[in-house]
Amino acid sequence: MKQELAIAIDGPAAAGKSTVAKIVANTLSYVYIDTGAMYRALTYKALQQGVNVKEEEAVTALLENTTIELQQSEHGQLVFLDGQDVSHAIRSHEVTKQVSYVAEHRKVRKEMVKQQQDLAAKRGVVMDGRDIGTHVIPDAEVKIFLMASVEERAERRHKENVEQGFASDLEQIKEDIRKRDKIDSEREVSPLLKADDAIEIDTTALSIEQVADKILQAVEQKEK
Ligand code: CDP
Ligand code: CDP
Repeated sequence: MKQELAIAIDGPAAAGKSTVAKIVANTLSYVYIDTGAMYRALTYKALQQGVNVKEEEAVTALLENTTIELQQSEHGQLVFLDGQDVSHAIRSHEVTKQVSYVAEHRKVRKEMVKQQQDLAAKRGVVMDGRDIGTHVIPDAEVKIFLMASVEERAERRHKENVEQGFASDLEQIKEDIRKRDKIDSEREVSPLLKADDAIEIDTTALSIEQVADKILQAVEQKEK
């Protein structure tokens, strides 16, 4: 049997991480872990309870009394917050706008990273996020950094919204993405950064299949 690996996929919003990570995980029969969902779940709870997302102590105290579980199902990853399925609720516009503030806090990241490292310890995982190759699994056998222009990424999110029948404003999406990129890249603790040994793929002009194929090729190289 082939040795199972850890595959780390990082990059900014709408670079295509989760879409290709799911394909790669399915192809290899690996588990897909979306770490952004954990930060989103905590943000959702903070908003529900009126906790100021910019206050580190308050958000950390909230996390201490919170259980976030990721479960694999035939429909993909499900997210449970204190036992309740919040997989859909954590994708709201409000959570998306606030999540980067929650993810800036050192104590929050420390706990999240610890939980993510436990999930990756067995290998056979494709994990996506912002700091997977640099902090969560620095010894991942395959590290990928996905990029795409802000214009292309905003178009992708806009198209998704329109297809799902949601109201969508392209310029607003562009602005929100720019803002989130800035907070994620400039924060002090484990910012969004390409690991030195990551393979960078600019997905702006690539199809989903082309990106997935490139990653699968990198995996094959490591398996040799
Ligand atoms: O799907 P999208 O790229 O829009 O976002 P996500 O992966 O769900 O991540 C939401 C937010 O969580 C990011 O903008 C980061 O602020 C934070 N995040 C992080 O700081 N570290 C991670 N490993 C994953 C997400
Ligand atoms: O996880 P992340 O936020 O990085 O992005 P995503 O949710 O996987 O992808 C955002 C959108 O871009 C999805 O609707 C994908 O179908 C689309 N996409 C694309 O059009 N071309 C690619 N090469 C990758 C993703």
